[in-house]
Amino acid sequence: MQTPSGHPVESSSAQRLVVLASGGGSNLAALLAAHEGASYGARVVGVVSDRPTAGALDLARDAGVASAVVAMKDFDDRSAWNDGVLEAVSVFQPDYLILAGFMRILAPSVVRKFEGRMMNTHPALLPSFPGAHPVRDTLAHGVKITGCTVHLVDEGVDTGPIIAQAAVPVLDGDDEPALTERIKVAERALLVETVGRIAREGLYVAGRKASIGR
Ligand code: GRF
Repeated sequence: MQTPSGHPVESSSAQRLVVLASGGGSNLAALLAAHEGASYGARVVGVVSDRPTAGALDLARDAGVASAVVAMKDFDDRSAWNDGVLEAVSVFQPDYLILAGFMRILAPSVVRKFEGRMMNTHPALLPSFPGAHPVRDTLAHGVKITGCTVHLVDEGVDTGPIIAQAAVPVLDGDDEPALTERIKVAERALLVETVGRIAREGLYVAGRKASIGR
């Protein structure tokens, strides 16, 4: 089978991850480094971006991982774009979808297809500071402890069941870039650890309670 960017689809006993990313892809880079380990239990088999210039696509290419671009401008409307995302992702036959800096909201029809198998990483301690500017909002609010969250994606914005969180102190004098960078260090570690554990031990969800392993 060929993917949209022409690479063969990998076959492996590891859980198949498809990463959706709009930006530089430091979280993707961390997953790509982790999946090299034979015992990690998961492998990034595809990367999908809505931005043709996303650094994440360069990372995928450099790692020999297949990728696809699904740019909003190439579709008639949002519904067609969502269909395009679903098609691009499905080619890779993912076990799990990881939204790692994917700055678009997916339609409920897409979210439902991957219920319990689609995760997002967010640079705040949800349910505080959801949305597009969590670090800015955190600083504006004056909180002293923030962090990052890996959560399941549901039909809301950053509202799905929380799987894992890590705390990061806000320091006097922090500005948005400085705090963002410190959160991202914690975020990469949390994402890699959480995704690996889910791949190896399974994810169990009962209402709002998500837990890894039995
Ligand atoms: C991450 O902090 C993610 O939580 C947020 O956007 C950032 C993406 O970073 N939504 P990168 O592209 O993985 O470097």
